[in-house]
Amino acid sequence: MDKRILVWDFPTRIFHWTLALSFAGAYLTAEAERWRDIHVICGYLMLGMIGFRLVWGLVGSRHARFADFVRGPAAVLRYLRSLLSRSPERHVGHNPAGAIAVVLLLALGLGSGISGWMMFNESGGAQLADVLEDLHETLGNAMLAVVAIHVLGVIVASRLHRENLIAAMVTGYKNGPENEGIHHRHGIIAVILIAALVAFGWSLTQGKLPALYDPGGATMEKLQKEAGHHDHNDRSRRKGKNPHDD
Ligand code: HEM
Repeated sequence: MDKRILVWDFPTRIFHWTLALSFAGAYLTAEAERWRDIHVICGYLMLGMIGFRLVWGLVGSRHARFADFVRGPAAVLRYLRSLLSRSPERHVGHNPAGAIAVVLLLALGLGSGISGWMMFNESGGAQLADVLEDLHETLGNAMLAVVAIHVLGVIVASRLHRENLIAAMVTGYKNGPENEGIHHRHGIIAVILIAALVAFGWSLTQGKLPALYDPGGATMEKLQKEAGHHDHNDRSRRKGKNPHDD
């Protein structure tokens, strides 16, 4: 008999919606120079949240743990085949196919965050600048594609299994066998996570990180000059320039 059971703890839900928001923010502000600071801040946020999730995947509650949902190709194929049958396999946590998207999203988020951070700090110098920028853009676009597949997968799985997976990622609850539920919301970890997010927001207002809205990019430029860097946007200038001019 199915009951209403807790599946997603608090930290996992906070992680999910913060990650979704920070990705959307970073993607939408990727092109415009005047939104560069927001883009960088969203990138930091994404990296921080993924860092947290990697740890939570090892020590978090049952369905948040990687060991609970990361499966091999055989399990993925079995699940996909079962969708064509009369009794599709049901997983209270992530299903094996959805888990592929989860792992890809974490890996792509990490890759785009790190490549963006390296670009921003001009790690690797001028030689690596073009490679990093191309890599950063490619990873960001790949992530968008996986997000689209992820959201589509969530909608399809919700229909097939006749359950609202989106509501479950908000409330934490699903209907399922009682012994598959988790017993703790992990409220204390959630409070620590929220406190870290507030501290991050507060540090922005103290000018420790680029100002939130800085049309001319002046704060960024000033910070980088102080740190002894060149302008982050040198590359666009460099591109149209003969290297011997330097
Ligand atoms: C409106 C957009 C979105 C919706 C409705 C949505 C919905 C969901 C749902 C329902 C789940 C749980 C799936 C399950 O039951 O197995 C989930 C998991 C997940 N989603 Fe999304 N998602 C959205 C956007 C995103 C975005 C933009 C990202 C990444 C940039 C993302 C990354 C993830 C990750 C990493 C998980 C695994 C959560 C965990 O185990 O910590 N989602 N999403």
